[in-house]
Amino acid sequence: MAVMEINQEKIPTVRLFDGQLAPCIGMGTFGSDHASPVKVKEAVYGAIRYGYRFFDCASVYGNEAEIGEIFTKAVSEGIVRRGELFITSKVWNDRHGKGDVLISLAQTLKDLQLDYVDCYFVHWPFPNYHAPGCDADSRNPGAKPFKAGQFMEVWQQMEKIADMGLSRYIGMSNMTIPKLEAVLPLCRIKPAFIEMEFHPSFQQKELLDYCFKHGIKPIGFCPLGSPNRPVRDKTPDDVVDTELTEVVNVAAARGIHPALVCLKWAVQKGVIPIPFSTNEKNYQANLRCVTEGLLKKSEMELLEKAERNCRLVKGQVFLWPEAKGWQDLWD
Ligand SMILES: NC(=O)c1ccc[n+]([C@@H]2O[C@H](COP(=O)([O-])OP(=O)(O)OC[C@H]3O[C@@H](n4cnc5c(N)ncnc54)[C@H](OP(=O)(O)O)[C@@H]3O)[C@@H](O)[C@H]2O)c1
Repeated sequence: MAVMEINQEKIPTVRLFDGQLAPCIGMGTFGSDHASPVKVKEAVYGAIRYGYRFFDCASVYGNEAEIGEIFTKAVSEGIVRRGELFITSKVWNDRHGKGDVLISLAQTLKDLQLDYVDCYFVHWPFPNYHAPGCDADSRNPGAKPFKAGQFMEVWQQMEKIADMGLSRYIGMSNMTIPKLEAVLPLCRIKPAFIEMEFHPSFQQKELLDYCFKHGIKPIGFCPLGSPNRPVRDKTPDDVVDTELTEVVNVAAARGIHPALVCLKWAVQKGVIPIPFSTNEKNYQANLRCVTEGLLKKSEMELLEKAERNCRLVKGQVFLWPEAKGWQDLWD
């Protein structure tokens, strides 16, 4: 029997700094080393039909051309109108040079078969490039630490693409409070979104508060603790969010999967989670769960205790030669 799609009116929305609305949850599209572009594309099609409207893309995920076929197909089949979709993409670290941002976005628009994206992000705040699929010890000898001046040269290019109407909003990703303090006063157009790692064992409370204080909407990546993340991003000390006592207890009391607890919690914290899945049952459950059964105050309080300061995407492949360790990336 065909599964009924979710009624759009049931999906909560979040209000952006300019009063516009965006869906409270999206779908990630980073297939990493286990989901092929074709598998991701099929999931995006199923997700649109089920009711997802927000998709988090990036050129470095290597699947924008396949996903673009689906956006066109879904619009031409009348499943959705372009204006109802919220599509984001990101400029990769090897496209921070003069003129590069526009070229990178042009390729993304061509691949995604779009006239504009809803938000374009600076994926990482430095130009440090690593080859896709490299191992954890890989270092780029040309890598450099964050410099506000260098970042602003990229951001000014972002502001121009916003002026040109090629992106409705612009955003930053993998930022810290000191980096934001250094660049926000210099921005002519402020970021509408900050994309950050966010799951019960890594709650980034100060950064979250900082975003709210500045009218910036947080988007949470790895909201389920990214169980299938690349091997280079796994260390023996990492915890598994869906196995944490606090998460498991809330899930067991409600008779739902711990992954769904993570998503409800994120949405109720005011963060837009972007869970990835190519499994129809899972991605349907992920969207459905935010339309029903709010967590109680006591459950939210219990989940706050799941904090373990466990950063999963440490970014060590972006380190510069003199850096001591991955913590240097995060101030
Ligand atoms: N800005 C950045 O630097 C950055 C960094 C990392 C990620 N991201 C974005 O964030 C997105 C999400 O992060 P992520 O993909 O690393 O991790 P994630 O969403 O935390 O976890 C995804 C994994 O969880 C499984 N899963 C999904 N729903 C489930 C459910 N209901 N029950 C059980 N398992 C479930 C999926 O497996 P199945 O496919 O089998 O369901 C998938 O392997 C990415 O796709 C990407 O768009 C951005």
